[in-house]
Amino acid sequence: MSTLLSAAPYGAGPFAAAPLAGKTALVTGAARGVGRACALAYARAGADLVLTDIGEDLDGVPYPLGTAGQLEYTARLCREEGDGSVATATADVRDLDAVRAVVDGALDRFGRVDVLLNNAGIAAPSGKTVHDITPDEWDLMLDVDVSGAWRMIRAVGAAMTAQRAGSIINVASTAGLVGYRHFAGYVTAKHALVGLTKAAALDLAPFGVRVNALCPGSVRDDDAAEGRMLTEIARSLEVPVEEHEETFVAAQPMNRLIEPEDVAGAAVWLASDTSRQVTGSTVTVDGGFTSR
Ligand SMILES: NC(=O)c1ccc[n+]([C@@H]2O[C@H](COP(=O)([O-])OP(=O)(O)OC[C@H]3O[C@@H](n4cnc5c(N)ncnc54)[C@H](O)[C@@H]3O)[C@@H](O)[C@H]2O)c1
Repeated sequence: MSTLLSAAPYGAGPFAAAPLAGKTALVTGAARGVGRACALAYARAGADLVLTDIGEDLDGVPYPLGTAGQLEYTARLCREEGDGSVATATADVRDLDAVRAVVDGALDRFGRVDVLLNNAGIAAPSGKTVHDITPDEWDLMLDVDVSGAWRMIRAVGAAMTAQRAGSIINVASTAGLVGYRHFAGYVTAKHALVGLTKAAALDLAPFGVRVNALCPGSVRDDDAAEGRMLTEIARSLEVPVEEHEETFVAAQPMNRLIEPEDVAGAAVWLASDTSRQVTGSTVTVDGGFTSR
């Protein structure tokens, strides 16, 4: 058979108990929530980790963001659960120099970055009709939720293309695929993130670097992961969180909220070589929500 038509066999590698062994993964927004669950799953899958988060609150975001203490706690859990090394660094994904420094630190310590999970994101300021959003609110949402991911891609690009390998996973949302009332900034940013995913996938495919979007539905604010996005979305909509949860359970055909671990499972698959022909894709973990 022509070598042009046949890929090398997987071997045991991607199906092994530790499919990310020997890989270095960089996770943004790792202090809590989905980021913490993904970091833990990566640790269990054998990866070395660089975990980053803003570690302080952000003007204009009406709820507390992940703290440096929470980031260190995620790192501790990862060290307990995995065999790999774990480094942490605080950085605001809006800050080009800070982002560059995190990636430089990762390369100094591990020599390579194989996986970038662009998970950092904000759900608010939201809750307004589109024409009532202020310019500052609009800019902030796009700056964090889409430009932040682009800054990270920009920072890892040279190393990944030189390695001729890499997997970039952008945590978008069902809000990257359909609209939600009173969330125009978030919906726009997440749609743009899906667009960035496709364009980057085309640019980077010749270098063996894959780029995919992961689109969760409504994720339960798990106590262990300390996530709080669902709570904040409910607050933005001025509905009790229980009512918001019930609405989404009813809207998601699998009839339950998404668990952070459900997102982490897909994040491990997209990071591993098992998904080596998957690029430019949007992988939904939404209990069937967007199939309606
Ligand atoms: N929770 C959901 O229902 C849901 C659904 C779909 C998609 N998502 C996406 O999943 C990702 C994680 O959400 P979550 O539910 O864990 O929320 P979360 O608020 O619990 O965690 C988000 C993390 O990102 C960090 N962060 C925010 N702004 C940052 C910045 N400027 N620089 C660096 N770090 C920053 C926060 O400090 C926090 O630790 C987000 O991108 C979110 O949009 C969440």
